[in-house]
Amino acid sequence: MTGHPTAATGAPRTSPADITDAAANSFAGCSDDRLRVLLQAFVRHLHAFAAEVGLTQPEWEAAIGVLTDTGHITDERRQEFILWSDSLGLSMLVDALENPLPPGATESTVLGPFYVPGAPLRPYGASLAEQPAGEPAWVHGRVLDLDGNGIEGAELDVWQNGDDRLYAVQDPDAPEAHLRGRFHTRADGSYAFLAVRPVPYTIPDDGPVGRMLSATGRHPWRPAHIHLIVRAPGHRTLVTHVFDAASDYLGSDAVFAVKPSLLRQFVLRTADDPEAPAGVSSPWYSVENDLVLAPGGAVEPVDPGRTA
Ligand code: BEZ
Ligand code: FE
Repeated sequence: MTGHPTAATGAPRTSPADITDAAANSFAGCSDDRLRVLLQAFVRHLHAFAAEVGLTQPEWEAAIGVLTDTGHITDERRQEFILWSDSLGLSMLVDALENPLPPGATESTVLGPFYVPGAPLRPYGASLAEQPAGEPAWVHGRVLDLDGNGIEGAELDVWQNGDDRLYAVQDPDAPEAHLRGRFHTRADGSYAFLAVRPVPYTIPDDGPVGRMLSATGRHPWRPAHIHLIVRAPGHRTLVTHVFDAASDYLGSDAVFAVKPSLLRQFVLRTADDPEAPAGVSSPWYSVENDLVLAPGGAVEPVDPGRTA
């Protein structure tokens, strides 16, 4: 206790800093070093936040209400806590801190809630769409190591939305395999698949995160993108996106996942272009996208129970 003595008893007064110290020091005996560091820093930063803004009792009550609502809306399909992490930039920060990449490697970005493992394996150049879903986009390139050598047999696990904005997992009427697929690279590391041009869409905004966005004048939109996980033996698993360089919302992604190095041009080609992919008889887009993997191990991305 460091405060001034009270008039009545002469005992020292308890200051806000005394309260913070007491709470942080309560973990001093924790035998798990990492847990102690995490909890002491968490308490200190939480208290510093409250002290900095002069947190009021009604604001504290509102925060408890938000957390309670977040718990109530969260179930095995909807993970509102991770949506908070996404919409406050924490998911991107943790990824950046945990996955510093060597120069030249393709940058990573968020996994998002719409990834479902076990997409069908499809041959080189096959279509992701099981039913009409938008303008055809031929996505092609090579999977390379840091020295520019093609990686044979790398796996691309791809998922995207269609022109109705929905991922298959959000649409009970869509076939399960719709707009999802896994592809293997050829001997020279090349890959190709027929996607559709993705469209911007909103993150789930009918819960506490959505209320935060509208109360603060933010929007729930994400710019158009295709998701990729790239796996290859001896290389770090890459979770990334291909962003449409002409999309709206690139400067204000609701989850802060845009990295300039991940933008690609969707180049318009005519239906009679001799390079038109098989089965395409309308204008289409060509998207070139090489992917460079860092050496390392396969760490499977985890997203606990989100599909909505
Ligand atoms: C997505 O890109 O699928 C996504 C990422 C974070 C939150 C919501 C959606
Ligand atoms: Fe997405």
